[in-house]
Parts: sequence; C-alpha cells; structure tokens
Amino acid sequence: MELRQKRRLVVLTGAGISAESGIRTFRDDNGLWEGHDLAEVATPEGWNKNRALVLDFYNQRRKACLKAKPNAAHLKLAELEDSYEVTIITQNVDDLHEKAGSSHIIHLHGELCKSQSTVDPRITYPIDGWELKLGDTCEKGSQLRPFVVWFGEPVPKMVEAIAAVSQAEALAVIGTSMLVYPAAGLIDYAEEAIPKFIIDPSIPSLYPIANLFPIAEKAGTGVAKMEKALQSWEFED
Ligand code: OAD
Repeated sequence: MELRQKRRLVVLTGAGISAESGIRTFRDDNGLWEGHDLAEVATPEGWNKNRALVLDFYNQRRKACLKAKPNAAHLKLAELEDSYEVTIITQNVDDLHEKAGSSHIIHLHGELCKSQSTVDPRITYPIDGWELKLGDTCEKGSQLRPFVVWFGEPVPKMVEAIAAVSQAEALAVIGTSMLVYPAAGLIDYAEEAIPKFIIDPSIPSLYPIANLFPIAEKAGTGVAKMEKALQSWEFED
C-alpha cells in the first residue's frame, strides 16, 4: 500500500489577516496608510523626495510589528502543517506568519524587519530593533532602505509564487482586496479543479472562477471554517 503524501495547500494572505492582531489594512481608511498617501511612502519617487520621512514611516510600522502577536488565523495556518503541505504567499511585510510557526513563507512584498542596499537590491540585512537611520549603509557604502517592494518596482518572488500556486491542490485567499497586481493575478495560475476559498468579511468581486468558495468572515473564524470544508473535500488522486 502506498502512503499518500500530504495535500498541497497554498495560502495567499493580505493585510486583512493581520487586522485582528491590531495592524491596520491599507484600503479601509480612505486610501491612506496610517495617515499617509501611498505615493509618499510606498514608491521610489517618495523615497527620492524625502528619505527621512520614508525611514521614519517604516520605523513606526516596525515598532508596532515587533509588539504584534499572531492571531487565531495565523496560528491555525501553522497548525494545518500537521495535515497539509502548506505554502504561505503573503503580501504582508509583518512577520506574524513566522511568529505563528509557519515554515514555508514567500514574502512577495518584502519584510519590514530587513533593510536593503540601494545599489544592489540582492543585499539585505536583518534590522536589529526598530530603527533604520539616515547614514546606515550597506557593505558597498550606499544608504540602506526598508526591504519593501514599492509600487512600480519588480516583484522577484512572483516566479516562486506562481510555481507554488500552479502546483496547489487547494488554494486559500485571505484578507486581501485583490486590487494590487501582480499578486492579485496569482489565482489565475490555480488548476480549475481545485477548491479555492476566499476568506474576507467583504468578499472582493472576482470574475467567474471555478470551484470558488467565499467565506464572508473575519480571518480568525474563517480559517477554521475552511479547515472543515477541506476535510470533506474529495481530492482527486
Ligand atoms: P487591503 O487593505 O487592500 O485589503 C485588506 C482586505 O482585508 C480587505 O478586503 C478587507 O475587507 C479585508 N479585511 C479587513 N479585516 C479583515 C479581517 N479581520 N479578516 C479578514 N479580512 C479582513 O490590503 P492588501 O490587499 O493586502 O503593498 O493590499 C495589497 C498591497 O497593497 C499591500 O501588500 C501593500 C499595499 O499597497 C505594498 O506595500 C507593496
């Protein structure tokens, strides 16, 4: 008798999964992010215009992130590794999936707790504490910036993310408005036959997609419902 390997569950998460941990989402506040226009703090133009403001903005986010704790949704996704081969693709720059114990995480939009060289984007460093300052430099002498993918910049992790979604046997999309590309296009790489769960109190409107199961709830309770639905899903061999 052959032992079936664990099924491959791929989960795309957005800001909504961290809302119950006290981290604000992006688009629930009139398009402002903690009082700032996204163009000011999340574009290369914003960085070139005012580096001090951008560094301070991410320093404040990092400070909040260091204190934040994973919520029931992050914890449940980590626990699901007992039954599934779970890959998390997150648009979030926080580290709550890591804190919850998930072991395979693709950070599409970077990581708040790391800095990046401004002459060679491949050079990144962990940030000790919460503060990245003007004058902090990489080994090649350039000012360090937050390791965050800004609007207008390439998303190198997309290659890995597309490969994961293409091979998924089940997909979950949690707490994302599905407005930001290329991340929002990942769902198109999923096989038609696999179940696709969308967990969000305000389900984003999507074009018709086969086997789509909306769960209009907050992530905490929604992920538990998805687990039940997965248990009764008849996977093809
Ligand atoms: P958004 O702020 O656009 O969307 C957050 C989603 O979370 C919305 O659909 C909400 O309805 C939902 N939501 C709110 N509370 C929730 C809860 N408790 N449980 C589940 N869902 C909840 O955030 P993203 O889609 O993640 O990019 O935004 C995508 C990207 O845009 C971000 O990664 C960021 C931003 O600009 C960069 O910083 C590069």
